[in-house]
Amino acid sequence: MARYEIKGGIPLRGKVTISGAKNAAVAILPAALLVNGVCRIENVPDISDVRILLSILEDLGVTVQCPEKGVVVLDSSNVTRTEPNESMVKQLRASYYLMGALLSRFQKAHVALPGGCNFAVRPIDQHIKGFVALGADVEETEEFVSLKAGPNGLRGGRVSLDMASVGATVNIMIAATLLPGQTIIENAAKEPHIVDLANFLNTMGARISGAGTDTVKIHGVERLQGGTYVIIPDQIEAGTYMAAAAATGGDLLVENVIPKHMECITSKLAEMGVEIINYDDAIRVRGNGRLRHTTVKTLPYPGFPTDMQAQICVCMSIASGVSRLTESVYETRFFGYCTELESMGADIQISGKTAIVTGTECLYGATVTARDLRAGAALIIAGLAAEGTTWVKNVHYVERGYERLIEKMTQLGAQIRRVED
Ligand code: EPU
Repeated sequence: MARYEIKGGIPLRGKVTISGAKNAAVAILPAALLVNGVCRIENVPDISDVRILLSILEDLGVTVQCPEKGVVVLDSSNVTRTEPNESMVKQLRASYYLMGALLSRFQKAHVALPGGCNFAVRPIDQHIKGFVALGADVEETEEFVSLKAGPNGLRGGRVSLDMASVGATVNIMIAATLLPGQTIIENAAKEPHIVDLANFLNTMGARISGAGTDTVKIHGVERLQGGTYVIIPDQIEAGTYMAAAAATGGDLLVENVIPKHMECITSKLAEMGVEIINYDDAIRVRGNGRLRHTTVKTLPYPGFPTDMQAQICVCMSIASGVSRLTESVYETRFFGYCTELESMGADIQISGKTAIVTGTECLYGATVTARDLRAGAALIIAGLAAEGTTWVKNVHYVERGYERLIEKMTQLGAQIRRVED
């Protein structure tokens, strides 16, 4: 267990370079199991979720090499195992993508139910519905999901998702890639990492179209060959630094971003009075007096991301006036951090899916506990903006998804250090 000590009240200034997208990396790495050959994947973030996933792949028989920073070379040619290590699988959410990948490549899989951030009940019924539509027989227990080809074999199928689930869209795309026939996913998720996964698979020889719209079509191919792919920048890491700049009244150039992916976040920060300048692959965020109140509703992409809910809540908590923050993806997400923010002086009333945030002049340092990745990121922002010293406990959650956070923040002038308990 480790915690961060933050001495707050210092505006963040300078340049920060955004790493590769966590949620793209954790989909692309399992998808590399489909490739019969060597995949070189670049811009892979060095975060604990990725490290665990690479260990799972290695344990399955994938040859994993990391020849330079941010580069992972995977060779899945000799994999024969279809039962990934249970204890490692339980350490992260994205291990559910091993189900789709192993099913597509070996027509069977036996995978423990995933772990990861537990800010809500996170069912996988839509993933299962997809596998069944592709002809799989599925056996589910409280601990495991076992998949195998049904009596008519695996082949393309049509799936209409009950909600635009990121995980189900990814898993079905991966599973369908090597199956005969065409698969159509309707009401698919449209997040940037869905498009990134499709681009990765297509680079390796898959035939996927429509990613980024609500209908994705996958024409199954017999095999994928090796190749090189560069992962997109992380929308949420970028948004987190932008929110930190806004909350501390700083002046930050956030480099290596795709400004189009950031529009839902930049428009809200602009509404709050932050000066935003978009460049081709960078965004400047400059504080401009006290933040103003706003209204945010989280939605699937291209709406405001649920993964930025907690960080924008910190900005609202020190803005003038009363803000409203409505969560429409994971209702219980507020409970991961609102009480902690209140202990720092925030005024937040939760009413069903909406948090009503009355801005205060200032937050005060306190000892707070991270309960999930984004809640932890929000508490760090709160600590940076607060008067006095904040201790954020349980930072292993944060280290799941933010590469070299201490180093990046320190370069921006933050007084933050990691302490082992
Ligand atoms: N849902 C179901 N059944 C399913 C799948 C989803 O009811 O089979 C519901 C969920 O309960 C939720 C909604 O559908 O209410 C959307 O869930 P989704 O499947 O889109 O989420 P996920 O795939 O489990 C990914 C990200 C999350 C991010 C969400 C929403 C990964 C590994 N995780 O989760 O990222 O919050 O999409 O955008 O890609 C994070 O990075 O901190 C994080 C939690």
